[in-house]
Amino acid sequence: MPSEKVHPSKIQHVGIIMDGNGRWANDQGLPRAKGHLQGAKVVKEIIAAAPDLGIKILTIFAFSTENWNRPKYEVEILMRLFQAEIVKQFEELVKEKVRVRFIGSKYGLPKRLVETINKLEDNTKSNPGLVLQIALNYGGRQDIVDAVKKVAEEIKIGNLEPDDITETHINDTISTSGLADPDLIIRTSGELRISNFLLWQCAYSEFAYVSKHWPDFTASDLDDIIKEVSSRKRRFGGVISV
Ligand code: FPP
Repeated sequence: MPSEKVHPSKIQHVGIIMDGNGRWANDQGLPRAKGHLQGAKVVKEIIAAAPDLGIKILTIFAFSTENWNRPKYEVEILMRLFQAEIVKQFEELVKEKVRVRFIGSKYGLPKRLVETINKLEDNTKSNPGLVLQIALNYGGRQDIVDAVKKVAEEIKIGNLEPDDITETHINDTISTSGLADPDLIIRTSGELRISNFLLWQCAYSEFAYVSKHWPDFTASDLDDIIKEVSSRKRRFGGVISV
């Protein structure tokens, strides 16, 4: 568990690409589903630890638009797991005053899962605690396309001129609108890729790549990464003044 109650970190928004569930299971001779199941336990631990680490917004990549290309049975297992975990963690999230938002398309998700998601979003929308964003059926390029479409609609109805489009317009219409960009993006399992996660929002994010598979990741690993990344100088394209 993290050592300090009030963490000194300036890392307030953390995005996580939770990779390696399958390899973790494979390494132990277990079916891939067991890796996802263990991964869900780690999700719970990280959500619980986040506020004490100074995290205000946690965005986790649960299912990408490309993950539909997995074998049908694995997609079904994942959808069932999301449903079961959300139901299981519902009360706890409400009690801990977590505000849950889902980003990505609800189109194509099982009807029961969409109902559960909508209920959780609705029940937690005024909560003042950690903002938990679950990227489900999410793709960064699609996120940008959706925002551009909304801006185009504004132009079509005469509310905006093409020359007046600014980054703020995209920020205000993209899925994460109203939230700060991620300060840090973590990917487990040793892969050095962004894989279509928060493409617009990661312009100035720090990156941390961890060799451990997601089911082995702990709150203490997160604490260590935050401490290391906090000591980096972030220049946002400028120069260091000290
Ligand atoms: C990537 O590992 C993981 C996923 C595609 C699923 C992530 C899901 C969880 C962590 C389960 C619970 C989530 C919530 C929101 C309750 P992989 O299968 O790509 O692993 P591999 O690269 O080793 O095959």
